[in-house]
Amino acid sequence: MDNFTFWNPTVLIFGKDQLEQLKTQVPRFGKKVLLVYGGGSIKRNGLYEKVTALLDEIGAEVYELSGVEPNPRLTTAQKGIEICKKEGIEFLLAVGGGSVIDCTKLIAAGAKYDGDAWDLVTRKAVAKDALPFGTVLTLAATGSEMNAGSVITNWETNEKYGWGSPVTFPKFSILDPVNTFTVPRDQTIYGIVDMMSHVLEHYFHLEENTDFQDRMCEGLLMTVMETAPKLLADLENYEHRATVLYCGTMALNGILNMGYRGDWATHNLEHAVSAVYDIPHGGGLAILFPHWMEHNLSVKPERFKKLAVRVFSVNPEGKSDEETGLEGIRKLREFWSSIGAPARLADYDIDDSKLEVMADKAMVYGEYGNFKKLNREDTLAIYRASL
Ligand code: NZQ
Ligand code: ZN
Repeated sequence: MDNFTFWNPTVLIFGKDQLEQLKTQVPRFGKKVLLVYGGGSIKRNGLYEKVTALLDEIGAEVYELSGVEPNPRLTTAQKGIEICKKEGIEFLLAVGGGSVIDCTKLIAAGAKYDGDAWDLVTRKAVAKDALPFGTVLTLAATGSEMNAGSVITNWETNEKYGWGSPVTFPKFSILDPVNTFTVPRDQTIYGIVDMMSHVLEHYFHLEENTDFQDRMCEGLLMTVMETAPKLLADLENYEHRATVLYCGTMALNGILNMGYRGDWATHNLEHAVSAVYDIPHGGGLAILFPHWMEHNLSVKPERFKKLAVRVFSVNPEGKSDEETGLEGIRKLREFWSSIGAPARLADYDIDDSKLEVMADKAMVYGEYGNFKKLNREDTLAIYRASL
């Protein structure tokens, strides 16, 4: 196990009727609030009304930025930054999924940065300060509600990158499973794939002696896999929504991956695909992850075997580690297909015409991935296998 320092300052508020806590949380930071939300789901399901009523009760002066896109755009964050600077906003409240939260993170940091906010995303500059912000999460997937990461798309240049800094943790996040009842079936599936992929990114590492971390990762994967079919058969089931919501947060808030560095190449591969084709992140991961696994099976077959045996109940008797590992990958694919996730880039009408363009984007910071460094040939091989 490697040395580590764990620090996560987000106050996590979980459960039924917890929205009320806005009344105590928001006034800690200020009265001038920018409410950030997406394309209208919170208006359709009544959450907007509840949030604005509570902000009204505490006498907040509320400004709004709506229309944050899935795969949030730089231009939308820039609009928010302009509002913050012009109106002297003191606090940002993100109400939505990962896209709304990620956009809010760039607004919060951009409002305290003199240059172009894109510098923060492209790592030309590191965010040193940010306006405080909180979240009301409406979709279980990214973990953005309890981490400092943000993923932003520049649609003019077809670039999509992750960035973050210690100043971009939410001050608090309110997670009421009821607020996820209206998440449509497809987005529920993408969220499940995304949180499982976060755990798989952790799982493929080269560190030794991570028995407890491995067990936590395996436990999360097994819990999500047991719950997913029950949830998809009953989308308004509180207990199943709660399980998946909690798992999504735990998958990427730093608790599972203390003492080692996960791989993260598949996320890089996926961001390059959605930068060009604007597909849902979880859909892209369901296609790419099994191919990344097959491509890297020989790096450390015993990791793949461990996953196959413990999570997918593969019987290893009479098989090499690679054979057992391959069976595990097949079972992962089967599971994702069984819940309705896509399996091929062709499912999104993606052909081989832009493979080189996607590879350029995936390679923008050079070779990537901590389990195995991937080069351009690896990148193209994985994309080709995913067609
Ligand atoms: O925009 P609205 O109308 O709100 O609709 C959204 C959107 O269309 C809808 N939705 C959300 N909550 C709903 C709901 N519809 C009905 N009822 C609700 N309660 O769902 C659609 C997708 O929302 P989005 O926020 O885009 O989904 P998700 O949470 O999966 O976020 C995806 C984005 O996060 C990035 C992805 O790359 C992608 O850009 N990621 C962020 C990470 C992070 N910050 O740590 C890590 C992830 O790996 C990921 O890369
Ligand atoms: Zn992800």
